[in-house]
Amino acid sequence: MKFSLASLLALSSGVFTLGAWASPVQEARQDAWPYGPFVVDGTEMKNARGDTIVYAGANWPGHGEVMIPEGLQYQSIEGVVSKLKSLGMNSIRLTYAIEMIDDIYANGGKDTTVQDSFINALGQANGTAVYQKFLAKNPSFGDSTTRLQVFDAVAAECAKQQIHVHLDNHMSRAAWCCSTTDGNAWFGDKDFVVANWLRGLAYMADHGKAWTALTSMSLRNELRTPADDSTLSSQSYNWRDWYANVKEGAKSINDANPAPLIFLSGLDFDTWVTPVVQGTALTPGSETFSAAGGFPGFADKLVLEIHNYENNAGSCSSINNNLYSKGFQAMHPDDSATKNAFPVLLTEFGFQQTATEWQRPYASCIASYLADQKAGWFIWVVAGSYYTRSGTQDFEETWGLLTHDWSDWRSPEYIEGGLKPLVANTAQG
Ligand SMILES: *[C@@H]1O[C@H](CO)[C@@H](O)[C@H](O)[C@H]1NC(C)=O
Repeated sequence: MKFSLASLLALSSGVFTLGAWASPVQEARQDAWPYGPFVVDGTEMKNARGDTIVYAGANWPGHGEVMIPEGLQYQSIEGVVSKLKSLGMNSIRLTYAIEMIDDIYANGGKDTTVQDSFINALGQANGTAVYQKFLAKNPSFGDSTTRLQVFDAVAAECAKQQIHVHLDNHMSRAAWCCSTTDGNAWFGDKDFVVANWLRGLAYMADHGKAWTALTSMSLRNELRTPADDSTLSSQSYNWRDWYANVKEGAKSINDANPAPLIFLSGLDFDTWVTPVVQGTALTPGSETFSAAGGFPGFADKLVLEIHNYENNAGSCSSINNNLYSKGFQAMHPDDSATKNAFPVLLTEFGFQQTATEWQRPYASCIASYLADQKAGWFIWVVAGSYYTRSGTQDFEETWGLLTHDWSDWRSPEYIEGGLKPLVANTAQG
């Protein structure tokens, strides 16, 4: 039998027949969910079919001392993902620490087992006991299971349930985040070694090629002033150095894996990215932000993210004004002060999960704003407790969507009255 070149190309799927837009450096487009790789088109994230994607999801921390996603001594991975899916959510922001990758390099390429990691983080007795609970809830794992294999299993379950994974580097040293004196605040801070950070981003980007559900990655959570280092604070904590480092970080990811979108976060705990949006000088330098100039070959991969924790705001007007001027202006290219349009996501906001807190201005204003902007978001946090946080084991998370043992909603009132409607008003794709 004889094949013509044309029929061979046709047989080899949409990579050739539909991939007209794809640049050669990009990975082959996927003909199944999530239809990656994603690109940015103006103020929207789009999949390779041209569908608009708006993330609506939750943060799932995996950057604590144990360095695996939280809660797995109480629930299975499938159970946690199913909880999010039951809300209609379409994504998670999955956090990790660079320390995990540093360990792998220090051990000749071998990742630490989960068993050892529990013991390292919680001590011999408690670490062993919690590890046994983890195995009981997640019986497919065993003594040889490594931390990255747990991340792999989370990503696989997300793919199965069609939940996008946004992979977030939260800290260098694995610990609760964030303070201005935790050594992880800024590029060059005590624990924030830039070379290790770049290596870690590249490692995870490369590793994530095997994750069907991985559609985007961030550079770093909540950059902030390194308050206990006056030299670094006064000489480097600024937009000029931000730009230099962010360009390097984005390149590390894109060189290792050109498929994921890359989220850029701002200063002061990622509360503002205004100079990027308005194209003003990246002070104390005079350079201005340029997607094409700063991110050659992947300018269409960049997304902005900000956080908001103005929990005691009295009305929507101050929240709305801040959200707009600190970031969401980038979704309004019609505004004459907008120089660089982007999709913008609120990758963190959160509040006490009581019966009524969600009805106060903060949560209700943010929900209205996100729905109005058709903007993506991740609530802090899908959790009920942490393996350990700031020195307290089995730490109760009163902001968590789940009860202490991750079995049920902490505020069913919010889930039904606030969260499900927010998801329904925003999620796309
Ligand atoms: C070990 O766990 C117990 C509860 O099971 C707790 O009371 C104790 O504080 C833990 N030890 C440490 C060092 O946190």
